[in-house]
Amino acid sequence: MKRIIFTGKGGVGKTTILSNLARMVAKDGYRVLVIDCDPSMNLAMSLGIPLSGIVSLADDKTRLQEQLGTNLEEHAHEDSDQCDHHIDEFIMNADDGVKLIVMGTIPYGGAGCLCSHISLVKLLVAYLSTGPEEYDFILIDSQAGVEIFGRGLVAEFDACFVITEPTPKSLEVAKHGMKLSRDLGVKRQIVVINKAECDGDITTSLKELDGNADQVVSLRFYRDIQEADRKGAGLQDHAPESAALNELLGIKSCLLEV
Ligand SMILES: Nc1ncnc2c1ncn2[C@@H]1O[C@H](COP(=O)(O)OP(=O)(O)O)[C@@H](O)[C@H]1O
Ligand SMILES: [Mg+2]
Repeated sequence: MKRIIFTGKGGVGKTTILSNLARMVAKDGYRVLVIDCDPSMNLAMSLGIPLSGIVSLADDKTRLQEQLGTNLEEHAHEDSDQCDHHIDEFIMNADDGVKLIVMGTIPYGGAGCLCSHISLVKLLVAYLSTGPEEYDFILIDSQAGVEIFGRGLVAEFDACFVITEPTPKSLEVAKHGMKLSRDLGVKRQIVVINKAECDGDITTSLKELDGNADQVVSLRFYRDIQEADRKGAGLQDHAPESAALNELLGIKSCLLEV
C-alpha cells in the first residue's frame, strides 16, 4: 500500500489534481482511499459527494480513537475476512470506486486547533498500514501550507506530491514543504508545476526548484478545469475530451511508479 501526501500553497490545485488522479487510478482497478485532511473539506465535492451526507472522523472522535487504539495490536494479526471494521461508517463511495474519508472541520469559532483531528488520521493510517492490505493507494489531501508536516502525520510515507504554481511565492512554499517532507523520511518528492501558461513558466520554475525534487512534471492552465469546477462537476464528466486529461495521464504514471 502506497501512502502519498498532496501539499502546496492555497489554491494551487491540490484537490483538483488529487481527485482526478484518484479517479483515474481507481478506474484502472486499483483500490484507492482518499482522506481529506483539509478543514475546508472540498475533496468530497470534487468527487461528486454532497457535503450534507458526510460523517467525518471528527464527528465521533473519542469513540473512534478508543476503537482504533485498542485494536491496533489485534489488527496486525487479522486476515482480511476477520477484519472488524470500526471505520466503515466513515467511508463514502465516490465516483469510479474511489473511497473517501473526511477528517472534519472546526465545529465552532474558538474551538481550538486541528491537532487532535490530525492525530486521529495518523492513528487511522497506522491502523490501515498494520492489518491486511485493503488499499493499493492512500492519497491524503492537505490544507494549504506546511502545517501538516509539523504534526508528523506523513512520517515514512512513500511520496509527497508538491503542487505549485509557477510563481515565486508558491515555489517557496513548495521548497519548504519538500524540506519538511524529507525531514520526516518521505521517500520521494514529486513536484507538479500547475497552471503553467507558457514554456517559460516551466523553465523558470525548474530553475527556482534547483534540483530539490526527485521528479518534476507539469500541468498547463486549462479553462476546462475551471469550468468543471464552476459547474461542480468532475473534469472527466464535464470535458471527457479535454487535453488536460492527457497531461493528467502523465502525472498518473508518476503516481503508479511510486
Ligand atoms: N491546471 C489548471 N488550470 C486551470 N485552473 C486550475 C488548474 N488546476 C486547478 N485549477 C483551479 O484552481 C482553483 C484552485 O484549485 P484547488 O484544487 O481547489 O486548489 P487547492 O486544493 O490547492 O486549494 C480551482 O478553481 C481550480 O479549478
Ligand atoms: Mg484543496
